[in-house]
Amino acid sequence: MRFPELTADEAAEYIKNDFVVGIGGFSSVGTPKAVPSALARKAENEHNNGRQFRVGIITGGSTGDPIDGALARAHAVKFRTPFQSHKDMRAAINSQETQYFDLNLSHVAQDLRYGFLGHMDVCIIEAAEITDNGELIPTSSVGISPTLVKSADKIIIELNERHPQSVRGMHDIYEPLTPPYRREIPVYHPGDRIGTEHISIDPKKVLGVVRTNLQDNIAAFTEPNAITTKIGQNVAEFLINELRRGLIPKEFLPLQSGVGNIANAVLGSLGECPDIPPFTMFTEVIQNSVIPLMQSGRISFASGSSLTLSDDMLDKVYADFDFFKSRLMLRPQEITNHPELVRRLGIIAINTALEVDIFGNVNSTNVSGQKMMNGIGGSADFARNAYLSIFTCPSVAKGGVISAIVPMASHVDSNEHSVRVIATEYGVADLRAKSPLQKARTIIEKCVHPDYKQLLWDYLKISEGKCHTPISLSKAFAMHLALAETGDMRNAKF
Ligand code: COA
Repeated sequence: MRFPELTADEAAEYIKNDFVVGIGGFSSVGTPKAVPSALARKAENEHNNGRQFRVGIITGGSTGDPIDGALARAHAVKFRTPFQSHKDMRAAINSQETQYFDLNLSHVAQDLRYGFLGHMDVCIIEAAEITDNGELIPTSSVGISPTLVKSADKIIIELNERHPQSVRGMHDIYEPLTPPYRREIPVYHPGDRIGTEHISIDPKKVLGVVRTNLQDNIAAFTEPNAITTKIGQNVAEFLINELRRGLIPKEFLPLQSGVGNIANAVLGSLGECPDIPPFTMFTEVIQNSVIPLMQSGRISFASGSSLTLSDDMLDKVYADFDFFKSRLMLRPQEITNHPELVRRLGIIAINTALEVDIFGNVNSTNVSGQKMMNGIGGSADFARNAYLSIFTCPSVAKGGVISAIVPMASHVDSNEHSVRVIATEYGVADLRAKSPLQKARTIIEKCVHPDYKQLLWDYLKISEGKCHTPISLSKAFAMHLALAETGDMRNAKF
């Protein structure tokens, strides 16, 4: 190999206080692990010696404990974008130790190219292979890596031997030009290949290669429970009905499924439903539930930006890689989430909400409008442009003291103009072609938990018949206030 080999500590030594560091990979997989951990140790050491040490971190999406966990615990992150899902980073963000701006994930690479995110000093990329002439093969994700290696002054590569070199050919790397030279993106079916198998890097930028053999340590997903299974069944029934009415073509349409336990369970239920024909996925994150559905022939192809699989599931994929390689394609998140493609392919988008209001505005990010959970991720990229945009959530959270359906969302990520369908374990509210009052009646009737139904009917009565959108300015957050003051939204009075 023509590049110098470094230890993780030697590579971390290059990173200085106030550097902006780009991290390759996506959704907690295929991200570098050894150098960020070494960076966290370096930061602790610097702090112990009375020196300031904080860096800005730009990633594709979420990362695992070696990045968001270790760096947050080391108090080493000055700013963070565009998405995270780690409890320690969440705590740093919510205490304002770390300044966080969550971005639509389709925007991150272009924001870098446009210069909106400022200067990048160094990026760290995990690779399954690196050739002397600068062909880098990513591992189990792509994210914004193709743009990072162009934007950053220097590149550190973690060559992870846990991934077989046969992953070459699973990726499709394509970067759009910048306006005014941008052209259409020629993807007409989820499996269309438009780019290269590798990311091209400038060998002169490479500081060195750190050899590793590390797993991503993705926790196993929570097993589907009665509630998430019921949500999945409700969505499946709704889609079957749409097929019967001819509102979804008989060939069916590609699915996008969001992140987290609920999305994983919902996709599992959908896939098992025999009345839904075998389908393809054009999604951001390929989660565990896709793999058995591929083995059983229910999912014929999946394009995404990451294989966010638990370690044992990734082992299964690599053990039968001839089968899976022809059915999986990993692309930059800018392509998987691209509005042009989501609209053209006619994606059925299924994402998870933290909170939904009775008019169909969705909060995916801020608990009680104040505390960051994870970030908007790709949910709005898909919701805004999908053929059909569905948001799911259990009707209540935290044992019932919180209703997921509230008079007014305390923060809005996807608004009523993008959100077409809401599904909880109680039923499905179809919001298409409905006025705000009709939407409110449908959501309360179909989706709300019995403990909260009367409360929300009472709220609606305050302004019903008096205005186009029947909200009460003085009572809109009464349920949130009841939660803050008494610990239970059911104590709200209207
Ligand atoms: N108020 C307060 N907390 C709530 C809540 C509400 N209205 N609704 C859910 N929660 C809590 C849950 O209790 C749970 O807390 P815990 O971790 O302490 O148990 C936590 O939020 C996560 O909820 P869970 O039920 O496990 O759902 P999930 O793992 O499916 O995650 C989201 C749900 C919304 C957090 C997750 O889907 C997300 O981050 N979405 C935004 C990004 C996105 O949609 N990406 C898709 C990209 S294509």
